[in-house]
Amino acid sequence: MKYKHIVILSGAGLSAESGLRTFRDNNGLWEEHRVEDVATPEAFHQDPDLVQRFYSERRVQLEAVEPGAAHRALAKLQLAFEGTVTLVTQNVDDLLTQAGATDVLHMHGELRKVRCLKCHTSHRWLKACSQETACPGCGAAPALRPDIVWFGEMPKHLETIYTALGSCDLFVSIGTSGHVYPAAGFVQTVAEAGYAERLELNLEQSQGSHMFTENRFGPAGELVPHWVDEVLKG
Ligand code: APR
Repeated sequence: MKYKHIVILSGAGLSAESGLRTFRDNNGLWEEHRVEDVATPEAFHQDPDLVQRFYSERRVQLEAVEPGAAHRALAKLQLAFEGTVTLVTQNVDDLLTQAGATDVLHMHGELRKVRCLKCHTSHRWLKACSQETACPGCGAAPALRPDIVWFGEMPKHLETIYTALGSCDLFVSIGTSGHVYPAAGFVQTVAEAGYAERLELNLEQSQGSHMFTENRFGPAGELVPHWVDEVLKG
C-alpha cells in the first residue's frame, strides 16, 4: 500500500455537479451577494433577517440535490482504504455524509445546523430559520444563528486538521480556488512538513496550483472516482 494517511481538502467544486453553486465561478454566490452583507458577524448584527434568508434559501436548495460520483467515491475510499483518510471540507453542505462518509471535518460549519446564542446548543435544522424561530433547546427567540463560520470567525477543527496535515503522506485538494485561508495554506503546511505528495484535482488552475506535486484538471465527477480507483488498486 503506497500511502498510510491521506488528507483530502474539498471546496465548492466538489458539489458543483450536484447543482450547488460555487462562490467565485460564473454565476457564483459572491456575484449575487456581497460577503459583507451576508457572511460576517457584523452583517448578522446589522440585518439578521437578510442573513437568515440567505442561509435558509441555501438550506432549502440542499433538499433538492443529491451526492454526486465524487462524493460517493470519497465515501468508498474512506471505507475501503486500509490506512487513514481524513476528510476536511470548506463546504457547508452535507453531501459527503449523505454519500456515506463519516467524521467529515466541516471547518466552515454546516448549513443544516443552527446554533443558539442564548443556551449555546447546536441543532440539526433542515428548513428555513428566522429571528422568530424559537430555540428548540431553551425556547428563546430571537436567539438562533446559522452554525456557519463567517469571515472573521475562527474555523472549526483546526487542531485536528493541522495534526493530520503534519502526519499525512498524501494531501489532496479537490474543487477549491485557494482564495480563503487557512484552507488555502494547507498545501504549504504539507510542503513544509517535507515528505508528503500533494495532488490537486480541480476544474482549472487555482491560486495554489503551483504548490502541488501533481495537478489534474477536469470535473470532480470524473477525476475523483478515477483517482480513488487508482489508490485502491495500490
Ligand atoms: N469539478 C472540480 N472543480 C470545480 C468544478 C467541478 N465540477 N466546478 C468548479 N470547480 C472549481 C473551480 O475551478 C474553483 O477553483 O472549484 C473551485 C470553486 O472555488 P470557489 O467558488 O472559490 O469555492 P471555494 O474554494 O470552496 O471557496 C472557499 O470561500 O466564500 C468562502 O466560505 C466560502 O468555503 C468557501 C470558501
